[in-house]
Amino acid sequence: MDKQNDQSRMDRIVSLAKRRGFIFQSSEIYGGLNGFWDYGPLGVALKRNLKDAWWRDMVAGHDELATLAGAPSPYEMTGLDCTIIMHPQVWKCSGHFDLFHDWMIDCRESKRRYRYDHIHGRWASHRGKKVFVTTDQSGDEAPPDTAAKAQKFFGLRAKQVDEIEWAGSLESLEGAIAAGSVALADVLGPDATAPGTLTEPREFNLMFETRIGALAGDDDDRAFLRPETAQGIFVNFKNVLDTSRVRVPFGIGQIGKSFRNEITPRNFTFRSREFEQMEIEFFCKPADSAAWYRYWRDRRWKWYLDLGLTEGKLQLREHHADELSHYSVGTADIEYAFPFLNPGEFGELEGIAHRGDFDLRSHMEGKLVRQDGALVLETGADGKPRHKGSGKDLSYFDDISRERYVPHVIEPSAGADRGVLAFLCDAYHEDEVPDEDGKPRSRTVMKLHPRLAPVKAAILPLVKKDGMPEVAIDLYRKLKPHMACQYDEKGSVGRRYARQDEAGTPWCLTIDGQTLSENTVTLRDRDSLVQTRVPIAEVVDMLRDRLQ
Ligand code: GAP
Repeated sequence: MDKQNDQSRMDRIVSLAKRRGFIFQSSEIYGGLNGFWDYGPLGVALKRNLKDAWWRDMVAGHDELATLAGAPSPYEMTGLDCTIIMHPQVWKCSGHFDLFHDWMIDCRESKRRYRYDHIHGRWASHRGKKVFVTTDQSGDEAPPDTAAKAQKFFGLRAKQVDEIEWAGSLESLEGAIAAGSVALADVLGPDATAPGTLTEPREFNLMFETRIGALAGDDDDRAFLRPETAQGIFVNFKNVLDTSRVRVPFGIGQIGKSFRNEITPRNFTFRSREFEQMEIEFFCKPADSAAWYRYWRDRRWKWYLDLGLTEGKLQLREHHADELSHYSVGTADIEYAFPFLNPGEFGELEGIAHRGDFDLRSHMEGKLVRQDGALVLETGADGKPRHKGSGKDLSYFDDISRERYVPHVIEPSAGADRGVLAFLCDAYHEDEVPDEDGKPRSRTVMKLHPRLAPVKAAILPLVKKDGMPEVAIDLYRKLKPHMACQYDEKGSVGRRYARQDEAGTPWCLTIDGQTLSENTVTLRDRDSLVQTRVPIAEVVDMLRDRLQ
């Protein structure tokens, strides 16, 4: 499939998401707010089902007495729900205050702001005039965008475009400036009409800042919206140990909102400024940490497959040493081939990081830095810690082996919104089905896993008479306590099937003349379109079994 097709497929997914109430732009009636998204009636159910599946499979439903396939030993799991605003020192010790930034660049002319690493450009010349033309578009859209900008800059008509001479192919502005082959004075900004309007790149901390209290004013009142849920778990490590009698190895799971003031949110919900994370911090003995890292990487990979993501569109990628975060001694990403990406490109769904003892030590001792391969306390010119830790003892005492140590942490960190987006993209299918007269009709169908589907079953009386609605309503009321289902009697049965296909409903139950005489209903399968007759008395148990 070429890029053009993939982008138009993405456009159709975005349009269905809006038309059917999966996802809306936040504050849309006021023109929307970039990087913020609302989930509509179908979307909220899909997202809740995804989070519930994660919570159940990873935390609540975990069997701590069994040794799961690939796990070095049995382990315990428990949960937490921490605040979004925490003590500012949390972010100083975690490294976010000093290090959680992107480089950005402003345009004095257009007043637009760009992520430095998102700008690409190439040299163009015409009749002795030379300029480095840039774009903030990505992939296949970038070259035509620079061509259009160069044409405008040189004041050429469309048929004169071939007169432009290009030197080299598109390269990153960041790389070209670092290499000294381009100066900002020669750069035509992505939305500028003259060169030299881009500012020097500046650091921009991604944490949203706020103030606590009505009399807020001085620096002590500064607080931050959390950029990850993980830190709430680390600072509660001792509380959980002291209150729940868990023993290492064990994990703490948390689902919650995180906030990042992304410079350029893009690609629908993929890079948002407000999003939800599903994170586990898994505490283990240092000597066993490599085996636990492998276990969690493989376990999380399998979770996406079990929920139906297409294996050929998923990739498990180990990070190179130079990609690792300041705390990480090993990270793998689970990535999905989103349709807005170029063929062969993948976007991150989840990261599984081996964080060593960085986090617990940071919250004990203060902000750490890596020096000659070891983590040491960062100190200022006065020799004092740059950011002081809590001073609390976060080590663990194993009362069986009589050992004391600071546990190592394995962190599977997934994005709920990116998960929803991947499942939406993967589920989206267009095919042809016969209509009521047997003629082929094109349909859009969301082939969501039944556990994720917002509505599990639709109950449809064939006609609004002859006692069919009464039987259908009775079945609806029997099914409703067990699963999300809908009663629908409006329009032709073909149109009602089409509505349910777009919502991703796996099963439709039709009440017809035979139901009244034989007490059976037609069960239509969304994906295979096979229709079977099922005794009405068996419907509830049958669908409950299938959902298991
Ligand atoms: N505690 C580690 C951590 O937060 P991360 O890779 O920065 O690691 C984890 O984030 C996951 O959170 C990502 O894999 C992604 O699914 C999600 N995520 C991160 N930034 C996001 C954003 N701006 N919009 C939507 N999801 C995001």
